[in-house]
Amino acid sequence: MQRRHFLNRLPLLASIPLVYRSGISKEVNALEGIVDRMDHLDPEDEEYWLIVREAYDIPTDRIDFNNAGIGTPCLQVSNAFIEESKTLTQLPSKRNNQLRKIMLTCHEVLAELTQSPTNQIAMCRNATEALATAIFGIPLKAGDEVVVGRYDYPNIFYAWKQREKRDGIILKYADFGPSPKNPEVIAKAYLKHITKRTRAIQITDLINYNGCRVPTRDIISQLPPHVRYRIVDAAQSFANTIDHISEFGASHVGVSLHKWLGSPLGTGLLYVHEDFIRETWPLYASIPDNDGMIGKFEHLGTLNPAVYPGILAAIAFHQKISLKRKSKRLMHLGDYCVDQMKSVPNISIHSPRHNQLKSNLILFSHKHLTDSEVHSKLWKDQHIHVTTSEWFGVAGVRISPNIFTSMRDIESLGLALKNL
Ligand SMILES: Cc1ncc(COP(=O)(O)O)c(C=O)c1O
Repeated sequence: MQRRHFLNRLPLLASIPLVYRSGISKEVNALEGIVDRMDHLDPEDEEYWLIVREAYDIPTDRIDFNNAGIGTPCLQVSNAFIEESKTLTQLPSKRNNQLRKIMLTCHEVLAELTQSPTNQIAMCRNATEALATAIFGIPLKAGDEVVVGRYDYPNIFYAWKQREKRDGIILKYADFGPSPKNPEVIAKAYLKHITKRTRAIQITDLINYNGCRVPTRDIISQLPPHVRYRIVDAAQSFANTIDHISEFGASHVGVSLHKWLGSPLGTGLLYVHEDFIRETWPLYASIPDNDGMIGKFEHLGTLNPAVYPGILAAIAFHQKISLKRKSKRLMHLGDYCVDQMKSVPNISIHSPRHNQLKSNLILFSHKHLTDSEVHSKLWKDQHIHVTTSEWFGVAGVRISPNIFTSMRDIESLGLALKNL
């Protein structure tokens, strides 16, 4: 009875082929009993999260605090990928054809996870590719205005700059500073640039530099109809704060699967609402029959199909924990990092702390050391891996814990910062 109840909460697992479900490692299967017993969503239940950690191959001699850079796949994902990479060395072209079926399953499972129809999602290699398809693919002419964020990711920021140079579009920048006080400040920063000539807007849902969450749905819901293209960069928010990307109300959404979902490297997703597929040019030309079909965005040449079983395994694992539980845990870890840092003299935190804006990505700096000195000292002295950021006044050291990060890891970081 309890088991049936559990499976009801995991409809996606049922749609994943048995071969990949039964391959779910014993560590991951061990979670099932625990998840069953946990009706409450307790982000502070360290015992449960230490079992989650067992599902990963985490080295004991170093601590990764740059999970927003590249996500760590769990053992189930890396095993599925490695196994498939081996199988692919025998009769690669035949196996590649067989893997098309798995790819179709990936589509179905991703469609369910994102609550998007299968005919509106295309698989690609990363969020950059997904968003470049949208940015270079929508029809814009000289003089059309586009509102973008000052803190958009560089690949995306410069893709728009290239379009500005080539096509004479006019870019307007929403600038809400490194540490906005509340969601209204951010919404205003975008909406104040909307004029009669605005044709497109692009919003980064979770900003990589300082971890600021943007009220994307709220902004999109206030746009007048002539702002036809509403592009969302959900590279950092997918599988961290949101799964249902179709709920943004966007025309196009770009997603990384290799960050918070923990899929193999080089996996991403492009969502295009059905009303926009025909008018969006693919980056790589496709056959004319495909004009109105989402598949035209997947004509990228030969890809590495060993990633597909890994994607299925990553989704199964993500669903097993559930977005709700994962988001709460990540937020709890982010808060704990801030608590630890607050007690360290000479450290200033730059990430927003408003409840609706904060996330598990935290930016800070040291009064007497440069960001790169903090970065290299943490690694040299303690083998703690962090990253640094500098972009239009948002500068500092960024940390981003993952669900396998323990409270002890964070305490070690706190201690290392005190000893700097
Ligand atoms: C906000 C944001 N957008 C886009 C990207 C690019 O993602 P990908 O590496 O999947 O192309 C990143 C990567 O860190 C990011 O943080």
